[in-house]
Order: sequence, then structure tokens, then C-alpha cells
Amino acid sequence: MYVTLRKFLFRFPPEAVHYFAMNSLQLLCSLGLKGLLRGAFKPSAPMPASLGRLEFQNPVGLGAGFDKNARWLRELEALGFGFVEIGTVTPIAQAGNDKPRLFRLPQDEALINRMGFNNDGVEVVTNRLKAWREKHPVQVKGNKPGLVIGGNIGKNKVTPNEDAWKDYEICFKELHPYVDYFVVNVSSPNTPGLRELQEKESLRKILMHLQMINNGKAHSKPILLKIAPDLTTEQIDDVIDLSMEIQLDGLVISNTTINRSGLVTPGDQLEKIGAGGLSGKPVRGRATEVLRYVIEKTNGSVPVISSGGIFTAADAKEKLDAGAALVQVWTGFIYEGPSIVKKIVNGLRK
Ligand SMILES: Cc1cc2nc3c(=O)[nH]c(=O)nc-3n(C[C@H](O)[C@H](O)[C@H](O)COP(=O)(O)O)c2cc1C
Repeated sequence: MYVTLRKFLFRFPPEAVHYFAMNSLQLLCSLGLKGLLRGAFKPSAPMPASLGRLEFQNPVGLGAGFDKNARWLRELEALGFGFVEIGTVTPIAQAGNDKPRLFRLPQDEALINRMGFNNDGVEVVTNRLKAWREKHPVQVKGNKPGLVIGGNIGKNKVTPNEDAWKDYEICFKELHPYVDYFVVNVSSPNTPGLRELQEKESLRKILMHLQMINNGKAHSKPILLKIAPDLTTEQIDDVIDLSMEIQLDGLVISNTTINRSGLVTPGDQLEKIGAGGLSGKPVRGRATEVLRYVIEKTNGSVPVISSGGIFTAADAKEKLDAGAALVQVWTGFIYEGPSIVKKIVNGLRK
């Protein structure tokens, strides 16, 4: 059935469809039909998973950038997600890049985006999470896990790289009481210069600063780092060394790629689309390759959330078998539809 709906939806601009689809689900929930969604889409039984001390109903989450502003947590919970990573959130609200900035590559089952961290800013997002937390407390030890919420944080476009740590600090402090874990995003290709922060000393400064603040809190939160699939082996080695040295809580592997090789979509079409991060099926192989490399080199001592090209239970199994603790979908959700979590969880259980 989703295949027919998808055909219809794909006639319209991707970003407009994104809001239309999620706002439709929101309307259904507001009309008291959340139970219906749950009945149709939530996996039939939990499949417990964990990341450090955090526990999850199931290992399938939604990657950052889908619900940037924490607007649709109720709806996403009804669709069965074990966790949702909100953001990337920046200190000050940003409009992002000019539209169009999100493109479908149906022949490759992929997307290209250059959103540019469009978001409502940390204050608005924090207030939304505060309201959510009135009924859905953050996870404390011994709690039955509800929807786990990750806070993916970034820097504003206007903030120079040498001051980036201040932006991460602002977002970290504001969101801290309301999220279950953090992801430091230095790997989006759509904020000029951001990926330079993946260099070892820049990372050390940002991550150790956040760890210091974290250690001063009564309840510290896991801090993970999200990396690009385009890093060289040397750069990945630096990330590994640093992660082990500072005992980082984990890595998210990986973000979108700027690589365009091996695509079926014709070159002139790609040229017309222009710059941006490629996601979906074409990024799967490289994301798994980096995941495997990191797990092997760290002996599995650094937990990993795997992101990149996960559409089916077989894709998720490949990542979990490679040593990922959890998986995230994004582009797969667009191509496979709202039953993706149920299909993956039920498929993994077989
Ligand atoms: C439209 C779009 C926006 C995204 N925005 C963010 C973002 O704000 N922060 C982030 O860390 N990743 C962002 N991502 C990357 C995804 O979280 C994910 O890591 C990537 O798309 C690879 O997974 P996939 O192949 O399942 O889509 C975005 C991806 C897409 C398609």
C-alpha cells in the first residue's frame, strides 16, 4: 500500500511532503487516533537493546535531521521507534539554505540534501522537550524504557570555528535536563567549514569541554560524536585514538557523504541538483566499512550507533552483526514508509 502512496507523494517537492506527512500524522494523533497508529505500526513485542547504561525498547531509531525541532515525538513514538535523535539544534534559530535543498534520487533510492541546519534554535526546542518531559520522564536507572531522545547539537553558520565550542556548550547546557544522550555533530557537509572540526585537536577541545560540564551534573548523559563517511583512514584513526583516550561514550557512524561515485542517476541530473550530502542506499557500504573498521580497531570498546542506508531487517542485521549497538534510519523511512520499524524489528527477531 505504501508503494502506491509513495508514487503519489513523490510527485510533490520532498520538503513539502515531509511536513505534509508528519503534520497529517499529528492530526490523526490529535483526533485521538494514536492507538490506531500504534496498532498498525508498532512492533508486536519489544526487542531490548542498550547503549552503555541507556536502555531501549528496540534498537531502531530515527536519525538526526528528521525531527530537527522535536515537533513530532508523539507521532514517532506511535510508529514504534526505539529512539529519536532531535536536531541538529544550534544556539540561535536558523533558516538554513535556500530552497530547493532536498532532492530525491529514486533510481538510487537515495536523497541529496543541503538543508544547512535549519532549526528553531535551542531555546524553542528545549521548551518543546520540557513539555514532552512532563509526561515522559528522562530515563533513570530501573525505569522501563520509553522513547529515548538524543540531542544532536551543532554550531550556527555565523559562528567561526574557533568559537564553535561555545555553541556546543550552549546547546549542551540547555538541553541537558531533557535529553537522554547527546551527539556532537561536526560532520554535516552543509555548514561551511564544519567538517574541519573533525580534526583531532578541535574535537578534543569541544568534547573534553562538554565532558567536564557533564561530570559536574548530578546525572551525566552519554556524549557521542557523529562522523562523516568521507574521512580518510588516518582521520578515522585519530577519531578512534581520541575516543579511547577521553573515554567517549560512543560514535554515530555515519553522516551523509559528499561522494557521488557509482550512482545510477545521470551526471547531468546530479549536476543540476548540486552540492549536498548523499544518503540512502549508496552510502550503506561505506558506512558499514567504517563501522567494521572502528569496531575492529577498538575491540568493540567504543559503542556505535550505525546510520547509513538502512532500509530492511537484513541491512540492520548487517550493522548489528558488524558490532553496532543500535541502528538509525532516515532515507529508508522515506522509501519504505511508516512500517519500517515494525518490519525491521520483526525481521531481526526471526
Ligand atoms: C534531509 C536530511 C537532513 C539531515 N539533517 C541532519 C542533521 O541535521 N544532523 C545530522 O547529524 N544528520 C543529519 N542528516 C543525516 C542523517 O541523520 C543520516 O546520518 C544520514 O542521512 C545517513 O542515513 P540514511 O542513509 O539512513 O539516510 C540528515 C539527512 C537528511 C536526508
